[in-house]
Amino acid sequence: MRVVQARERTAELVGRAAKVLPGASLGSFQLPLDQTVVIAEGRGPRLWDVDGNEYIDYVLGSGPMLLGHAHPAVVEAVQRQAAQGSTFYCLNEPIIALSEVIIDAVPCAEAIKFVSTGTEATFHALRLARAFTGKQNILKFEGGFHGVHDYALVSAFGMDTTGERRRVVDSAGIPQAASGTVIVAPYNDAETAREVIAAHAGTLAAVIMEPMQRAITPVPGFLEAVREATTEHGVLLIFDEVVTGFRLAYGGAQEYFGVVPDLATYAKAIGGGYPLAAVCGRRDILALTNPQQRGTSAYAVLGGTLSGNPVAAAAGLATLGELKQSGVHARLFATGNRLREGIAALGHDLGIPLQVPGVGPVFQVFFTDHPIVNHADTLAADAPRATRFAMELLRRGIFHAPNTKFYLSTAHTDTEINQTLTVIEDALRTIG
Ligand SMILES: Cc1ncc(COP(=O)(O)O)c(C=O)c1O
Repeated sequence: MRVVQARERTAELVGRAAKVLPGASLGSFQLPLDQTVVIAEGRGPRLWDVDGNEYIDYVLGSGPMLLGHAHPAVVEAVQRQAAQGSTFYCLNEPIIALSEVIIDAVPCAEAIKFVSTGTEATFHALRLARAFTGKQNILKFEGGFHGVHDYALVSAFGMDTTGERRRVVDSAGIPQAASGTVIVAPYNDAETAREVIAAHAGTLAAVIMEPMQRAITPVPGFLEAVREATTEHGVLLIFDEVVTGFRLAYGGAQEYFGVVPDLATYAKAIGGGYPLAAVCGRRDILALTNPQQRGTSAYAVLGGTLSGNPVAAAAGLATLGELKQSGVHARLFATGNRLREGIAALGHDLGIPLQVPGVGPVFQVFFTDHPIVNHADTLAADAPRATRFAMELLRRGIFHAPNTKFYLSTAHTDTEINQTLTVIEDALRTIG
């Protein structure tokens, strides 16, 4: 088994990064500085760092690289488009074609608008919902992550069941005027969701949710209950499909779970590794973004400099083209489930209490006896042990971000899964 050893060039670069990038981090993801990696190259399911150490990658750029790294069809599409110009702030053929592909694939999508990140997409979906309903508040679920804007960073990480609205603000700098519009309920509790939606119906513009919240699958009837209650009370339902889109099925979680929202947000896979995100859904709602309404009180502004960027669209088209091939999702699920079930079996055999909720292409390992059904369950699991687990994996050439999901790509094969299970057995024995 390979053990990561060389770190000279990494140490030099991390030292430079630490002087200019707070925490030597690009965002909130941070490894201990003496174990941080600087990636030089990715190909298929593997990464190489600047010292030549090789890793099997289960981070996949936090999810976008659903085909694995540097997929030839994506590289070719990007090179071709880049040679023809990178951005025009104007209609272009790749983005029109991608719009058609997404609308064809996604059950709720009748119209679509593009932005560059998942954060922008959920922000704009919420604005649209407010514009359409004329109501101010939104409901989200504890532990649901919708990016880093002011309405999303409420009870995404923390949790407080004591206040009337159970909410915790997860970042400094968020005005009360924003966080105060967010109501929070526990995921996978249909009864409470129904009650909260009914109680706030008069002020509630939308419910926003990850249909599969992080790696927690919805219990039977939960998504249906939220759909019914929102329809009954004139509240829009927004599925945040930034993770699940084109991953759980070609038509995303809506197809996989058979529940259709009013609006949905997409990012990660649709850009094939380039910055691209979208809000799609009912035509009557998206119609509020039509610039012909500029100057009227109905107009909901949506867009930005890079919205509909043709290079990202070309990468997205190539990616979705590959994902549409028959048998792709069946293979992705088979590979991922082999790993997920293999990890659960190792826990069982070694007498280590662990849970592995999720489905083939995305799952998470929690160190606990208790089944993971909601955010409270994830917070009760042993997070320091999960961090030690991730660090032992990293040392052995498996790239997995601590206390977050494993992402599988279509490029992972039985070879990677066998190697990974061998390493995981060793890591589990080490952390005990
Ligand atoms: C479900 C979900 N929504 C939204 C976002 C935000 O996307 P981005 O990081 O592109 O802003 C993420 C990011 O991980 C996510 O997982």
